Amino acid sequence: MILSGSASQVLAAELAAELGVPLAGVEYERFPDGELLASAPEVADLNGGRAVVVASTASSDALVELLQLQDAAREWGAREVVTVLPYMGYARQDEAFEAGHPVSARAMARAISPGTDRVLTVDPHENAVCDFFEVPAEPVGAAGRLAEPLPAALADPLFLSPDDGALDIAQAVRDSYGTGEVDYFEKERLSGSEVELSPSDADVAGRDVVVTDDIIATGSTMSGAVEILQERGASRVFVTCVHPMLAADAFSKLSRAGVGAIYGTDTIERPVSEVSVAPVLAERL
Ligand code: R5P
Repeated sequence: MILSGSASQVLAAELAAELGVPLAGVEYERFPDGELLASAPEVADLNGGRAVVVASTASSDALVELLQLQDAAREWGAREVVTVLPYMGYARQDEAFEAGHPVSARAMARAISPGTDRVLTVDPHENAVCDFFEVPAEPVGAAGRLAEPLPAALADPLFLSPDDGALDIAQAVRDSYGTGEVDYFEKERLSGSEVELSPSDADVAGRDVVVTDDIIATGSTMSGAVEILQERGASRVFVTCVHPMLAADAFSKLSRAGVGAIYGTDTIERPVSEVSVAPVLAERL
């Protein structure tokens, strides 16, 4: 039985179909005081079976729904509760960056752990965040699937990550695509929405470039990379990421920078979520 958070319904349905298990009817309510209630009133007794709760914690509300659905699954008698975090919110806050700061990723993991027996999360910013959970937790790699929507005949393609931390994602996309060079830029983050990129000396003139990252949040990183590639005469520039957060004006920022197309997965459900991570999750469930 799959129980879905309100923001992960498309992926949850795909996953249920992939696994051939029922998708629970879940109701989402908000009370006048702002409190949420995610419930599964029509689930038949789980009778000691397994419940899989699927919820990206891309917002605080989504985290609350996830905790409620874990609890509801136990109420229905689930023997095992598996939590799937297609996108784990706060994963990028994986250390205390200043004195007095929390390790937010650890705080989230500690909140989620008591209600579950196991956690799967797709391409967290660093796999080490899985160690913050107090139950077995595993990262699931989906980057290889990002090659699927790319045009079949890219011209002398270059797969580029905007910083060295996402180089493994660029490599996975290239490996799936089958051919092309891999390179990366250097990045320094100046603030939450400003980055400074130092380009590599890769010759991009006349070539198709696929820029890959784990997440597009404000779009500053990607739009900076796209602008540099345009200035250097790249032919077409495609942007791919696992988690298309696309906060605030990120989509417009990228469009204005001259990107050819943006592709992401359904870990965060957005209009660019062309690739489903359901098959890679199903393999691990
Ligand atoms: C950071 O290291 C990540 O891999 C992403 O590059 C970053 O979080 C993207 O953020 P934004 O879209 O706000 O530049």
